[in-house]
Amino acid sequence: MKSDTFLKLIGGLALAFLLPWVFLILIPFVSASNAEPIPYGEGEEVEGGVTAYPDSVFYRHGSSDYGRQIYAAEGCVYCHTQVIRPTYAGPDMWRPGWGGREADGLARETQPMDYTLEEVAPLGYQRIGQDLSNVGHRITTRELMHQHLSDPKSLDPDSGMPAYLHLYKKSPYGEGLVPTPKAEALVDYLLSLKKDQPVPSGK
Ligand code: HEC
Repeated sequence: MKSDTFLKLIGGLALAFLLPWVFLILIPFVSASNAEPIPYGEGEEVEGGVTAYPDSVFYRHGSSDYGRQIYAAEGCVYCHTQVIRPTYAGPDMWRPGWGGREADGLARETQPMDYTLEEVAPLGYQRIGQDLSNVGHRITTRELMHQHLSDPKSLDPDSGMPAYLHLYKKSPYGEGLVPTPKAEALVDYLLSLKKDQPVPSGK
């Protein structure tokens, strides 16, 4: 190998690793480390009409908090993320429904405030399935959510999602499944996933 070819190869390799590192690690790290609290503007309201921060919108109550633990225990994070990436780092905002309620002009990238009061932020690290940041806006009924957990192939024959049958029991009245309390709590949690509250303007 001629030495300039070799140099080009090493240079190309360095670039191929450097660019993703800068955009996916360095820039997000620096911008997140320097994040400052942003106050709500005067008279500015968040959903539910509360302006104090942190407020009830961010609290996860009772069974949906238990559901969060089931989500962690069942390993949903191995296939699902909960972060809508900044547009420079990926096309999430173009994926229908991922960023929230587009029709109401509320779709947005995930902000640090979306993890307020989360004991552990369930970011996930790979996407075999969709990002679930706003799944509570996409799947809106308990029935559909249970169907998705107990029999994903009934909704999409090619679904790569495992059926979480151990969270369900056979119905004593013949056909059908009965959700265990764990499945009910997990559904409460999933229906609560809505990371598209308006961001404070700070003015
Ligand atoms: C082995 C990977 C894998 C695991 C583990 C997994 N899923 Fe999925 N999931 C998928 C795939 C692939 C899809 C997309 C296909 C489909 O809709 O079934 C999906 C879709 C979904 C959807 C529908 C999302 C939408 O926007 O329509 C929900 C809700 C969901 N998963 C919840 C869960 C929950 C809760 C868990 C943990 C109990 C879990 N998943 C575990 C792979 C996985």
